Amino acid sequence: MVAAQQSAPSPNRARPPDGRRRYESLTREHGFEAMRVEGALPPELRGTLYRNGPSLTSLFGVDYTHPFEADGAISAVRIAGGRAEGALRLIESEGLREERAAGRMLYGLRLPWRHRILNALRGRRKNAANTSVLRWQERLFALFEVDLATEFDPETLTTIGATDFGGVVPSAMSAHPHAVASLNTQFHFGARYSRESFIDLFELPTRGPARRLASVPLKAPVMLHDFIATERHLVFFVSPARVRVLRALLQLGHLEQLFAWRPELGTEIVVVPLNDLDRPRRFTVDPFFQFHFANAFERGDGTIAVDYVRYPDLGILRALGQQAEVTVQSRLHRAIVDPARESFETRALLGESCEFPQVDPRRAGARWRYTWMQAPGPPQAILRLDHEDGTEDRWSLPATRWASEPVVVPRPGSTREGDAHVLTLIYDAETHQSGVSVLDAMNLAAGPVATAWFDHHIPTTYHGVWVPRDAG
Ligand SMILES: [Fe+2]
Repeated sequence: MVAAQQSAPSPNRARPPDGRRRYESLTREHGFEAMRVEGALPPELRGTLYRNGPSLTSLFGVDYTHPFEADGAISAVRIAGGRAEGALRLIESEGLREERAAGRMLYGLRLPWRHRILNALRGRRKNAANTSVLRWQERLFALFEVDLATEFDPETLTTIGATDFGGVVPSAMSAHPHAVASLNTQFHFGARYSRESFIDLFELPTRGPARRLASVPLKAPVMLHDFIATERHLVFFVSPARVRVLRALLQLGHLEQLFAWRPELGTEIVVVPLNDLDRPRRFTVDPFFQFHFANAFERGDGTIAVDYVRYPDLGILRALGQQAEVTVQSRLHRAIVDPARESFETRALLGESCEFPQVDPRRAGARWRYTWMQAPGPPQAILRLDHEDGTEDRWSLPATRWASEPVVVPRPGSTREGDAHVLTLIYDAETHQSGVSVLDAMNLAAGPVATAWFDHHIPTTYHGVWVPRDAG
């Protein structure tokens, strides 16, 4: 199906130096098609990379106020036998279907104020499903921070529909599940805003049904994007990014105006023991904001080491809204959290900005050695930090290319941390095409061993998952 309301970009259009065309709406949806491969795809790499991101910047000629409002699309790159096939398809949310049937925008902050208030009064909103992908029991779901997960078909990428997992999810499932490898399970959360606000905690086990673990009261409605899990705790850093409730209810202004940065309130550290879910430890520290966590582990003395990307404030939200090159400071940090003594010590691990930190999934929730991340540059880079010896390994992209989150794919049959490939969806501004680059996880500096190219661009993506082909 073609996104007919979008105008196709001219291939002869001059390339702006900042690569902003990577934010443009998708121009074509399609099922799996052969991709052009540069280099040699490793023969042992068999599976599919699914990624999600805001993929329509406008609808029927009306621009969204922020990419967080834009309709999501799933891109998929299937690799086997040294060949690659790619697919791209919009998430057909109920809201988008209604809008297409009506031939006009029905939701969002761009509507005339009467429509927005009517939507607010009726509790109507669109689940844009545009942020990440959850894999659970061979099912795949597009995630959106403030609504239910939307299931899609792994083969056709067609939308199956939103789900509350049989009544388990009362309101929303955030964009960031976290596995604990040794527990063979995934944990997840959703922020619920009502007269009182809560963090709903969920478990998505490898076998058996999803279940709700507990609901932790929040002091106020806040933007809460991510958390982290260890073998014994779930850890939240609740930044003072308050939801402006009245503005949100009345849907006034641009998306970033729905939040207020209240540094005087500090950041609340919430540590939920897995064996005592109703008795979280919580205390407040100096204010900071974070989008993403890398990993965490129990240090054995009652303290927890937590790696996360720290921002001084909420400025990142405006930068993302302007689709500007992100120049805000985002530093990988390690915090030592002592829930019993209510202490929080934190230090920067890198002197440059980064985002989308990832670890070898076999080390999720346990002590680990390597963290992979994207550095915004310029030039953009994928880098690996060795926590043991402090060394860095880096692939710097050419000035005309942009990277995305590095996805770590363990080599089949191996057990050693870092014995893996790293896959990243890249954008080439000269050709206005996107592709998936495959790197040796322990030798990024050598550059990609292969890149599989779409014949078009993939609008910027945030997060994704790798599904091994022989997974059972
Ligand atoms: Fe995220």
